[in-house]
Amino acid sequence: MERGTWNVERQLVVCDDLEALGRRAADLFVTLCGEAVTSQGRFSVALSGGETPKALHSQLHSESYRSRVPWSKVFVFWGDDRYVPHDHPDSNYGMARATLLDQVPIPAQNLFPVPTERKDAASAAARYQQTVKGFFDLSEGEQPRFDLMVMGMGEDGHTASLFPDTAALKSSSRVVVANYVQKLDADRITFTFSAINQAAFVVFLISGGSKALALKEVLEGSYQPDRLPSQFVQPKGGKLLFLVDRDAAARLTPRE
Ligand code: 6PG
Repeated sequence: MERGTWNVERQLVVCDDLEALGRRAADLFVTLCGEAVTSQGRFSVALSGGETPKALHSQLHSESYRSRVPWSKVFVFWGDDRYVPHDHPDSNYGMARATLLDQVPIPAQNLFPVPTERKDAASAAARYQQTVKGFFDLSEGEQPRFDLMVMGMGEDGHTASLFPDTAALKSSSRVVVANYVQKLDADRITFTFSAINQAAFVVFLISGGSKALALKEVLEGSYQPDRLPSQFVQPKGGKLLFLVDRDAAARLTPRE
């Protein structure tokens, strides 16, 4: 484990390529799922959007992994979603259904998509927050403790829908917020860092040379989370793993 510029320990694992990253992430998923089901009878996971998680999804529904997951005990949330209908091409829920959830025997009632059918992003966020609080039986001010949070990172250092210099970066008391992203001219719904940092395990899946500079700045640069929001991810009492491929790691200082 290496200590970063933050006050949490974090681990970095560099995989040869995206497929190897997907396999490593699937191994982690199976391990954490088994531990959670043994200790608490269920496994709660928040999935991420974008392209990289598809490498995990394709492994998880493959013959090598699907039978190793007790799908009826897996409960799926989304760390963020776009404020679009579930059948919209940009929907993170729609992507996860197409690339994983429709291919495995997970009960429909185990899926908790962001309710983007609500009249606006703020009410979708408020409703989702109630859903999360109900699932974890949270009292006022408490944050959910997901067994696993899968995160991605953009070239600008954003994660989930927590983009640089956006209002959501400062939301500390809430679990879920709406976040208008100026540069995308898009409304998003996202977990806050307060919720993310309550997770038992947070794994970043980061692939491709386009992320190399941001990854170097996030891991090795000065602590400036408003500009590099991924630096806000510091799970208290949880584990933090950066699972990256060689291209994304290309600018990191070589380790002895
Ligand atoms: C989203 C994600 C977002 C994503 C990063 C990286 O809704 O798009 O939550 O934070 O993880 O943008 O995306 P890629 O994996 O496609 O590079």
